[in-house]
Amino acid sequence: MKNILVTGGAGFIGSNFIRYVIEETSFKGRVINYDKLTYAGNLNSVRDIDEKYGGKRYFFVKADICDSKKVSSTLQNFKIDTIVHFAAESHVDRSILGPEEFIKTNINGTFTLLKCALNFWKGAKGARFHHVSTDEVYGSLGPRGYFYETTPYDPRSPYSSSKASSDHLVRAYHHTYGLPVTISNCSNNYGPYQFPEKLIPLMILNALDGKPLPVYGDGKNVRDWLYVRDHCSAVWAILKKGRIGETYNIGGECEKKNIEIVKTVCSILEKESPSSENPSLKGKKYSDLITFVKDRPGHDRRYAINCDKIKEELGWKQSFDFNSALRKTIKWYLSNESWVKDIKDGSYRKWLSKNYSGR
Ligand code: NAD
Ligand code: DAU
Repeated sequence: MKNILVTGGAGFIGSNFIRYVIEETSFKGRVINYDKLTYAGNLNSVRDIDEKYGGKRYFFVKADICDSKKVSSTLQNFKIDTIVHFAAESHVDRSILGPEEFIKTNINGTFTLLKCALNFWKGAKGARFHHVSTDEVYGSLGPRGYFYETTPYDPRSPYSSSKASSDHLVRAYHHTYGLPVTISNCSNNYGPYQFPEKLIPLMILNALDGKPLPVYGDGKNVRDWLYVRDHCSAVWAILKKGRIGETYNIGGECEKKNIEIVKTVCSILEKESPSSENPSLKGKKYSDLITFVKDRPGHDRRYAINCDKIKEELGWKQSFDFNSALRKTIKWYLSNESWVKDIKDGSYRKWLSKNYSGR
């Protein structure tokens, strides 16, 4: 690996992955962040990396993965040998309200990348396309059982259906044309730089502002939580050692009901930033803000990943335990006020024209 194209590198996991690769691995080559900067793309999330490594080991290309000319020229200009494909529309609630962008980016965008990669690499040795996907493609579990790599696909939201389609296309490009691919299906991530539309950052920021904490349905839906850095190290292990054509499940082995998560966020906040000292709370406790609301349509009940394959075959394992990593995450949101403020007032959308050096 010399030149890695990371799609969606201004998003939550992509930005963490770029930081991980450049600062925590022995990789000495170049990382090219290819991102359209949708509402979820935020260059503040890679600002430190741009300042330290921009124009040397880190480059940014603002473009759409559906734009085949731009994808092809980027592959060529940077002599890309590895693609790590994170870019996607990623929020289930938004996919219910408006599925079109999910079809465009997640299906057509992935197709465009595959087509351009095949055309550019033309069977070159050492090239690799890693596709980052989700456990949601497997559907919803009852109270027992796990998702395995062999579990039949049963996506149930526009988001998970679009991700399932993209997974099938990636496999088809391997089987039909021999494109060197790997796929990972991961459970719910949390950690720094996550856009506050997802459960954990939404609850942290709403609580600090004294706003309601909306829990869908009965709050007993279960997700399997993984700290984002553990996802990054898993993807890295697949890039280094994963077998071409294989799929690897990645998970936290950490099942929690949503209501448990929200209560834990409230109790950590009481210690780190007490409600009694927060004027927005007006004498309430954070947990007083918990509000049960109408359920998400088609809300999957339970996800739980079996990730024995990546553990046994590649020697990967999780390094972070839930309570300490959640505390670390909450402290990050408390101490990164300007990142939060720029999202709240929308100024993160203007950072490119104001500050970007054009590297
Ligand atoms: P995110 O929404 O935070 O970031 C997505 C990024 O993709 C943004 O920077 C956005 O600007 C970019 N993007 C969107 N459409 C684009 C397009 N057409 N062209 C170029 N860039 C585009 O998402 P995330 O939570 O970081 O998720 C990253 C990937 O991981 C997704 O593929 C998602 O399906 C998958 N995944 C996420 C989780 C999770 O818990 N967040 C878990 C498993 C898998
Ligand atoms: O499982 C992996 C998936 O995890 C990823 O593929 C997705 O990109 C990612 O968004 C995430 O999907 P979820 O729908 O599970 O994440 P979300 O944070 O939106 O919701 C987590 C759970 O919390 C879910 O059961 C819905 C519930 N929820 C969510 C929000 C935003 C609430 O109860 N209230 C809320 O306000």
